Amino acid sequence: MPETERGGGGGRDDGDGAAYERAFEAAVAAEERIEPRDWMPDAYRATLIRQIAQHAHSEIIGMQPEANWITRAPSLRRKAILLAKVQDEAGHGLYLYGAAETLGVSREELLDKLHSGRQKYSSIFNYPTLTWADVGAIGWLVDGAAITNQVPLCRCSYGPYARAMVRICKEESFHQRQGYELLLALSRGTPAQHAMAQDAVDRWWWPSLMMFGPPDGESAHSARSMAWRIKRHSNDELRQRFVDICVPQAASLGLTLPDPELRWNEERGHHDFGPVDWDEFHRVLRGEGPCNEQRLERRRRAHEEGAWVREAAAAYARRHAGGRGGDRTAEGGTA
Ligand SMILES: [Fe+2]
Ligand SMILES: [Fe+2]
Repeated sequence: MPETERGGGGGRDDGDGAAYERAFEAAVAAEERIEPRDWMPDAYRATLIRQIAQHAHSEIIGMQPEANWITRAPSLRRKAILLAKVQDEAGHGLYLYGAAETLGVSREELLDKLHSGRQKYSSIFNYPTLTWADVGAIGWLVDGAAITNQVPLCRCSYGPYARAMVRICKEESFHQRQGYELLLALSRGTPAQHAMAQDAVDRWWWPSLMMFGPPDGESAHSARSMAWRIKRHSNDELRQRFVDICVPQAASLGLTLPDPELRWNEERGHHDFGPVDWDEFHRVLRGEGPCNEQRLERRRRAHEEGAWVREAAAAYARRHAGGRGGDRTAEGGTA
């Protein structure tokens, strides 16, 4: 559909809002992508901004728990892998802040909301990384849960978000595999290494299941996001899919999942699993997790310490823009 039919021009409503709304609904139903200049309902825009921002914040806060181990990686190979992974997460943050900016918010505003606690990031990153095996458990379980959540987002109705997700998912798959491979090496290592791998899985399993969000009945935004084709599957569906994927992988790893109620249910064709501690989830979300304060404090400090980089980049951009249309000699050829 040509852009003008959906009210292209920055979302202005020139008097016939209902017609734009119908065109929007039809485009979503036809699996067409909504692009930044298309008309969209205010609530659709607000939902996307909230979701993409929270996702972007999670990527950059998520660098902290693993960065904790970069200097202590047990070999050069492991260090190179971990560095690449943590750097990827910074890149994911950038794609996602870029996608959010197409909806009319600035990155500055979003970071300000993160730093002041008005926007959230995934509560998984408020848990500490106590041993080297945690790097493996995060890759296998946390990146694994992220992929389960994010693969359907590659078909999200909003074009810039969907396209960012395609690239992100390719990299997440590398993250998941490196975690699995790291845990496998530990699991097959000395008894102490095996125990360290098991302990990490014991600590990360339940928080990973919480990454899919509250149960369907309590999920505030789910139904509308599904209708808008932002979300494709419910929280509980994705959680079940993740459990079903992990059980055989845990067996191959020679590790157990810390849930006595976990068993195959022939009738359902899925694994049954025990109840998630939603009180813990809400506690961590409220800021009472083991690392909430530290994560935000470090993020704010990193932002302050990076002020000079932003200033230099902005000065460079201004100079570059000034040279484009007019006095090119001002560039001096040295930039
Ligand atoms: Fe990521
Ligand atoms: Fe990742």
